[in-house]
Amino acid sequence: MSFINNNPPLAGFFMPGVNVKSIATFSQKGGSGKSTLAVHLGVAAEEDATSVIIFDRDDAQASASCWAERRAADTPIVLKTPPSQLHAALKAGSAKGFGLAIIDGPPHSSPDAAAIARIADIILIPVRPTAFDLAAVGNAVKIVTAAGKQPLFVLSACPPRVPEVADARQALADFGEVAPVEIGERIAFSRAIATGQSVTEFDPLGKAAAEIRALWQWVEEKLQ
Ligand SMILES: Nc1ncnc2c1ncn2[C@@H]1O[C@H](COP(=O)(O)OP(=O)(O)OP(=O)(O)O)[C@@H](O)[C@H]1O
Ligand SMILES: [Mg+2]
Repeated sequence: MSFINNNPPLAGFFMPGVNVKSIATFSQKGGSGKSTLAVHLGVAAEEDATSVIIFDRDDAQASASCWAERRAADTPIVLKTPPSQLHAALKAGSAKGFGLAIIDGPPHSSPDAAAIARIADIILIPVRPTAFDLAAVGNAVKIVTAAGKQPLFVLSACPPRVPEVADARQALADFGEVAPVEIGERIAFSRAIATGQSVTEFDPLGKAAAEIRALWQWVEEKLQ
């Protein structure tokens, strides 16, 4: 698939010719779960009959692209697309009838962050329930609100039965909406990624798969 390679300016809130809905997984904290959510939501959306493109905006680690290389299935398509070309790529994706674009954000403090926050319809911020992750939330929120968007938080890699999860939920509620489903700290996520799969493929009846399906349902509602 050839995605356009010209360089239109980012169009901000109104992007002519862009009908495809878009999500960015975004944070200013490395390792929070951006790439894990991006690829899992991509597969969950496809299982729900939505065709998906994932834009890998992490040039250094390229986690989503590595996952796609290991993957037996051809979809979701994963592309490395510079921010200056995202608008054109979204337009091309719209013309080709894709239903969803997912932008997997860079690790932290990248100059791309503001552009990604402007271009995506909704911004999902994964947050682990730890003090360091919570401390980094303020910076991400500043960028997202400056782009005119409301941050949506996802509690990520939550250990079982610890009070920190509820505490983090309460702290995040001051900044924005928090997904009702919490993504547990589960080995199924890293095992699925290692084989180029999603947990819904690797262990379809497992708890991780149920969490991802529930998260996708919530995200889909937010996209309406
Ligand atoms: N729910 C989870 N349960 C267990 N491990 C997880 C979970 N989510 C993420 N991980 C693991 O945590 C690590 C970081 O996850 P991931 O790469 O998705 O984060 P990221 O925010 O994309 O990181 P970066 O900022 O480096 O791009 C990976 O090893 C991943 O397998
Ligand atoms: Mg990543």
